[in-house]
Amino acid sequence: MKIGLASDHAGYEMKQFLLGMLEALGHEVVDFGTNSKDSVDYPDFAHPLAEAVVAKKVEIGIAMCGTGNGVNMAVNRHKGVRGVLCWSIDIGRLTRQHNGANICCLPARFISNLEAAAIVESFLSTPFEGGRHQKRIEKIEC
Ligand code: RB5
Repeated sequence: MKIGLASDHAGYEMKQFLLGMLEALGHEVVDFGTNSKDSVDYPDFAHPLAEAVVAKKVEIGIAMCGTGNGVNMAVNRHKGVRGVLCWSIDIGRLTRQHNGANICCLPARFISNLEAAAIVESFLSTPFEGGRHQKRIEKIEC
């Protein structure tokens, strides 16, 4: 898959870890930054990732900040983005199955890199179920 990654400084180390993991698994990764642990503003990285998802330049986005909430709020300002805060494997799976999520937001200061890897793996390997969930996700946009 073609996957976009973005983080602020709080998520930088997790982003680098996931980048290595995803490339090792054979995915094509586009890195939207940040590129160091220097303090930055999460919207500056979340918005370009969201734009790439909407434009279908990447199939899936993964975004990280300290709580995951800042990047989640930013990406969800983009029409067509369904960003979700994922802190467990089951949440990662259900947000794909039921919500057709296209950006997985991770709380880098509250989960380990290995937990993040397992969540991302469940997120990427689970398809949207459609059916009764299709009309529900169509009602999200306003
Ligand atoms: C950075 O200190 C922190 O505020 C940010 O990573 C994020 O948690 C905001 O939502």
